[in-house]
Amino acid sequence: MEQPHSGPMAGRTVLVTGGTGGIGRATALGLATMGAHLAVTGRDRGRTEGAAGELRAAGGGQVDVFVADLSCQSEVRRLAAEVLQRRSRVDVLVNNVGGYWTTRHVTADGLERTFALNHLAPFLLTNLLLDRLRVWLTNIIVFGLADWELDRGGPVARAQTPRDRLPAADFRFSQDENDDAIDEVAAGSSRIADWVPTLVDYLYVSVTNSTAVSPTDTMPLSVRAKLLMRVESVAAVITSVLVIARAVSTLK
Ligand SMILES: NC(=O)c1ccc[n+]([C@@H]2O[C@H](COP(=O)([O-])OP(=O)(O)OC[C@H]3O[C@@H](n4cnc5c(N)ncnc54)[C@H](OP(=O)(O)O)[C@@H]3O)[C@@H](O)[C@H]2O)c1
Repeated sequence: MEQPHSGPMAGRTVLVTGGTGGIGRATALGLATMGAHLAVTGRDRGRTEGAAGELRAAGGGQVDVFVADLSCQSEVRRLAAEVLQRRSRVDVLVNNVGGYWTTRHVTADGLERTFALNHLAPFLLTNLLLDRLRVWLTNIIVFGLADWELDRGGPVARAQTPRDRLPAADFRFSQDENDDAIDEVAAGSSRIADWVPTLVDYLYVSVTNSTAVSPTDTMPLSVRAKLLMRVESVAAVITSVLVIARAVSTLK
């Protein structure tokens, strides 16, 4: 059975462009021995699969193979779309691919090759991969703030109104039902510690709902809270699809 890796990069996903040779291959090998999950790119499938086999043998972790010629912008877009589809997240992007030529060559996009490969390709790839993170973070902040503003009359009411006069709760947090748990858990419950949720708690609800696309440890009680959570889940799914569509250039 495969043992979970405990190296310093365990659980991290690293995308290394140009992982088939030179500095990119050495970087990927080092990261594999540190426990990273790797995604490597190359222009030739056979060569890239060969490098992936070597990385799996070195680290024992997951290695994904992507094939793309990064001097071509449509290939960079396709690569970003494939990565977004196959990996739920990329923790580190190593923009290694590059080259230098003494003769002028123009790419299919009408760009000088060195400029296209060394500057435009890493810029485009980085931005396409960042899109999902930006949209995800915006969703989390917007819906976290909405929940914070809505629940039990809003932040001012929660801070100033005695518990027995608070409006009905829109969300049920685990602290709200912990008063009959074991002593050290009950001590922090709403009833015993007079706990009320803060912005951090609503942002956490928003993170879990947006990521899991369903409520996890905090349940919506009111119709408006249920609607809000559903809208957030649907927005998370739709934005993922849109980001992938933009990466493959069907949307500008
Ligand atoms: N080596 C040096 O002394 C040195 C010095 C300064 C800077 N650098 C920079 O460090 C980086 C790596 O250098 P290196 O010497 O390790 O390079 P390398 O040995 O030539 O390796 C290049 C890697 O990039 C991939 N690659 C090349 N052109 C590509 C393209 N158009 N599209 C997609 N992948 C492509 C190759 O994959 P496939 O061939 O398998 O497709 C290979 O995996 C480069 O950015 C280079 O400019 C190197």
